[in-house]
Amino acid sequence: MAFDWRSLFGYQTFKMVRVKDLRLGVIFRIFQLIILIYILFEIIYNQRYLKTEAPVPGAIRVTLQAPNDLDIPSYCNGATPCTFWGANEIQYPSDSAGYAFFTTRATARNYPNPPGCNSLRTTSPSDPCFFKPSNNNVTILPTSYIGGIENYTMMIEHSIRGEATSIAIRNGLMDGTLFYSDGKTVYKKITNASRTQDNPRADGDIFTIQDLLTASGANLDAPSTAPGADKAAGETYRSSGIVIAIVINYQNVRFKTDQLVYSYLPRVIDGNEYKVTENILNSTDGSITIIDRHGIRFVFQQNGSIGVFDFVSLLTSLVASIALLKVAELIVEIIMLRFLPEKEVYEDVKFDETTYRRGEVEVNKADEKKYQKRDEEQN
Ligand SMILES: *[C@@H]1O[C@H](CO)[C@@H](O)[C@H](O)[C@H]1NC(C)=O
Ligand SMILES: *[C@@H]1O[C@H](CO)[C@@H](O)[C@H](O)[C@H]1NC(C)=O
Ligand SMILES: *[C@@H]1O[C@H](CO)[C@@H](O)[C@H](O)[C@H]1NC(C)=O
Ligand SMILES: *[C@@H]1O[C@H](CO)[C@@H](O)[C@H](O)[C@H]1NC(C)=O
Ligand SMILES: *[C@@H]1O[C@H](CO)[C@@H](O)[C@H](O)[C@H]1NC(C)=O
Repeated sequence: MAFDWRSLFGYQTFKMVRVKDLRLGVIFRIFQLIILIYILFEIIYNQRYLKTEAPVPGAIRVTLQAPNDLDIPSYCNGATPCTFWGANEIQYPSDSAGYAFFTTRATARNYPNPPGCNSLRTTSPSDPCFFKPSNNNVTILPTSYIGGIENYTMMIEHSIRGEATSIAIRNGLMDGTLFYSDGKTVYKKITNASRTQDNPRADGDIFTIQDLLTASGANLDAPSTAPGADKAAGETYRSSGIVIAIVINYQNVRFKTDQLVYSYLPRVIDGNEYKVTENILNSTDGSITIIDRHGIRFVFQQNGSIGVFDFVSLLTSLVASIALLKVAELIVEIIMLRFLPEKEVYEDVKFDETTYRRGEVEVNKADEKKYQKRDEEQN
């Protein structure tokens, strides 16, 4: 038999059966419609056309500013007096990447240097010059609250970049939202207009400390639940210190692939107190001043998912979701072959059966003629 080129270069295609059954047709279209809506929702609403990645943190800078006028708040009239500090004294340390600490209660003591000692240079633990906070101290500031801390304003600046994408942006170019600790209720929206309204040259987001305390669900005058707090004396968070974790979540704006937005998600960490000790060595007389600070520790964490439009991502999502359409076919097929009263008729048309005998295909008489005729025409 000669080699038939037509079998090599012939085009092969599937043969289909069109089932003219209104019930099946309607069910099929309904399934298709539901799946199509789901696919559109996934791709458009959930932005499957983006190539996304987690943002790489840039810098977070937090600065504090004193309000123009301060009253004497009511908590200053209790057993603990108040002291009024400038913004630079309250924030410690002044430069802090990813966090900020604001003093709410402070004590300062100066420990004079025993004559002839250098407390940085001691030869053994029993050396009398080995520094120990001792009774020989001069109180510079008795334990005091920092007055009006809630009314100080803080400015937050932050930035991110992408690794796989070319995104690199600071918050001054994005819109933001400060949420309550439930992560859903909006406390305040920040846009370029609201940012520049407070200060035309401001690039960061300005909140009062009270704004962030309220949003995170913290109250400085509430009794502290920290294990180290003096509960019998009713020690408050103002005295023990408090930790507030703020997640900054970055996202693309739906339908605007080149715009990003962020949200602040603050939450107070229950029972977490915070204390920082500042040591200042006077190199002239060798005395050491210790400032014992309790206060609000804001910890920032940058997270989210940022992306750019990417055709291959869109294609991948499309192909993955189109496979879902097969599910509609599968369900209708099962209904057709298993549940309808006419299932046998449909099975007959769907499957062409050959009958085998002794390993040979037996062609029925009617078809035999047809095949002979076709073969003759071809040759
Ligand atoms: C803080 O600001 C509020 C609202 O402007 C004001 O009522 C309050 O007296 C201020 N507190 C202090 C200590 O200045
Ligand atoms: C400071 O000195 C006083 C007595 O003058 C003493 O009661 C107190 O415990 C000392 N404080 C520290 C932290 O050593
Ligand atoms: C923000 O607003 C100011 C003043 O209205 C304007 O000069 C500036 O270009 C705006 N910035 C952005 C990023 O839109
Ligand atoms: C360090 O001590 C000397 C001597 O007591 C004093 O004159 C000076 O003001 C102190 N310096 C600081 C920064 O406290
Ligand atoms: C960071 O964001 C991703 C995606 O939005 C999320 O799955 C993950 O839980 C987030 N992680 C934290 C620590 O918030």
